[in-house]
Amino acid sequence: MELSKPIHWVKVFSSAEKAEAAIALGTAKTVYLKKYDLRIALARNSNGWFACQDNCPHRGVSLATGWVNETNEIFCPLHEYAWSLLTGRETTNHRCGDVSLYPVNVTAEGLFIGLT
Ligand code: FES
Repeated sequence: MELSKPIHWVKVFSSAEKAEAAIALGTAKTVYLKKYDLRIALARNSNGWFACQDNCPHRGVSLATGWVNETNEIFCPLHEYAWSLLTGRETTNHRCGDVSLYPVNVTAEGLFIGLT
């Protein structure tokens, strides 16, 4: 039996209001976690917050420079491939690889991204 790793929560905004001011609905922003040398696209739509790897699996463009729709997909701006922010799977039938997903937690202390 494999035990799941504990999640390490990293604070990226000190409040939900600051995160909302920085990231409009339907958009994403690159969050660079220097300690882990990790770039994450923090995305938002009216369903909530999502986080995935920032580099597009196709040609490496920042997914955070794309857009997010209301069915929880993030679109790459270069060739408009999309990935589900719920499963990480590519949804536009280009047979491209998955994106890594990260949990997001918003509390009274701020907005956190979970790393394992
Ligand atoms: S570089 Fe992202 S879809 Fe081609």
